[in-house]
Amino acid sequence: MAVMFALPFGAIAQDSSETNREKDNTKNEINSKTQKSMNTLNKFEFPQLPYAYDALEPFIDKMTMEIHYSKHHKAYFDNFVAAIKGKEMESMSMEQIFANISDLPAAVRNNGGGFYNHHLYWGNMRVNGGKPSAKLEAAIVKAFGSMEELKKQFSDAGKTRFGSGWAWLSKDDKGNLFVSSTPNQDNPLMSVAEKKGTPILAMDVWEHAYYLKYQNKRPDYIEAFWNVINWEEISARFE
Ligand SMILES: [Fe+2]
Repeated sequence: MAVMFALPFGAIAQDSSETNREKDNTKNEINSKTQKSMNTLNKFEFPQLPYAYDALEPFIDKMTMEIHYSKHHKAYFDNFVAAIKGKEMESMSMEQIFANISDLPAAVRNNGGGFYNHHLYWGNMRVNGGKPSAKLEAAIVKAFGSMEELKKQFSDAGKTRFGSGWAWLSKDDKGNLFVSSTPNQDNPLMSVAEKKGTPILAMDVWEHAYYLKYQNKRPDYIEAFWNVINWEEISARFE
């Protein structure tokens, strides 16, 4: 029977033939179709932006979206694929890679994070993004007391992140929500994160995410971000 590639980091694949890799890719495609969230990602395919570049106007402008997706995100993807090419990381899930990130090259940490984080970010934005599900709303009230308090904590996490990074809403292994921020292209799935969990809402606070429209006014971008939150997608990720 063929050996599957769900190996712990450090293990050597016993059969690395193209045939088995193709089988694994097929398996990943099936998984991604059945997964509620967007957390399962084909590492070898640059994902499409789920809307037009101007879809988030006036909150996020068309030129920012075009450059951010087609240049920045694409470069992270290309550099990530180059960094894992021919290595055992090719057969690891993104989650496995992040869980072992402190043992992996900086190029994998920076570009793998950039690839994954932007995919989450595009998916959790939409104009008229609905409301949180009842289950998510209950979890927000349990963790923060109110939606207003979540908004405050999440916004503050973005505003106070020095330099470049991300703000996150994540769930921990008990299903409890928490807000955090990470530097550079790190995320809460990484072994190096101060607070570890599964991210369900991502906000990019790198200057490239807002500078063309908002210049140095990061708080204005963060305020605008609350108009493009795709609560339906975030609810699906939570559940
Ligand atoms: Fe970005």
